[in-house]
Amino acid sequence: MDREIILIAAVAYDNVIGNNGSIPWWDDTKLRREDMSRFRRLTLDKPVIMGHTTFLSIGKVLPRRVNFVLSRKGGLSVHGANICPDLNTAILAAHALSNEAYIIGGEQIFYQAIGDATRLEMTEIDGRYEGDTFFPRYKDTGKWYKTFNEEREGYRFSTYRRSMPK
Ligand SMILES: NC(=O)c1ccc[n+]([C@@H]2O[C@H](COP(=O)([O-])OP(=O)(O)OC[C@H]3O[C@@H](n4cnc5c(N)ncnc54)[C@H](OP(=O)(O)O)[C@@H]3O)[C@@H](O)[C@H]2O)c1
Repeated sequence: MDREIILIAAVAYDNVIGNNGSIPWWDDTKLRREDMSRFRRLTLDKPVIMGHTTFLSIGKVLPRRVNFVLSRKGGLSVHGANICPDLNTAILAAHALSNEAYIIGGEQIFYQAIGDATRLEMTEIDGRYEGDTFFPRYKDTGKWYKTFNEEREGYRFSTYRRSMPK
C-alpha cells in the first residue's frame, strides 16, 4: 500500500473549521458526537499530526494514537506527545509507523499539508457558523474527486482522492 497523507476535517459553510480556538458547532451534541465517532474510528491506532493551537484546544493527548504536535517554539514538552519542529519531520516519523499519516488540523497545518495530501476525509456541515479559521478550498478545484458519500441530517461524510498529479 502506498503511503498516504490524509487530511481529516469538519467544515461548515465557507469552509469554516474554528472560532476562538474552538469548534463552532461544539454545542450541537448530536453532530459533535457523530463526527467525533467517525474521527475516532478512522484515526484509532494511526499517527496523528496537529498544530500546537489545535493540541491546546483538544487539551489532551489523543489516546491509542501516536500524537505529533507541531511547534516552532524550542523547549516545548508534552508528556505522551512528540513535538516536531516542522511538518516534514512529523510526516516522515508518522510514516515510519504507518502508511497512513493523519493531519488533524488546524488551519495553518491544513494549508501547509494539502499540497502533498493524497486523501481528504471530510465532514461537510450545511450550516453557517461564525469562524476565524478555514480549511483550504478543495471543491471545484479539479484536484479532488469524491470516492465516498454518506448523507446525514444537515451534514455528510465525504472522502476525496486526488484526481491529478501533485
Ligand atoms: N473543524 C476541524 O476539523 C478542526 C480541526 C482542527 C482544528 N480546528 C480548529 O482550528 C483552530 C486552530 O487552527 P490554527 O490555524 O489557529 O492553529 P494550528 O494549525 O492548530 O496550530 C498553529 C501552530 O502550530 C505551529 N506550527 C504551524 N506550522 C508549523 C510548522 N510548519 N512547523 C512547526 N510548527 C508549526 C505553531 O505553533 P508554535 O506557536 O508553538 O510555534 C503555530 O502557532 C482552532 O479553532 C481549532 O478548534 C478545527
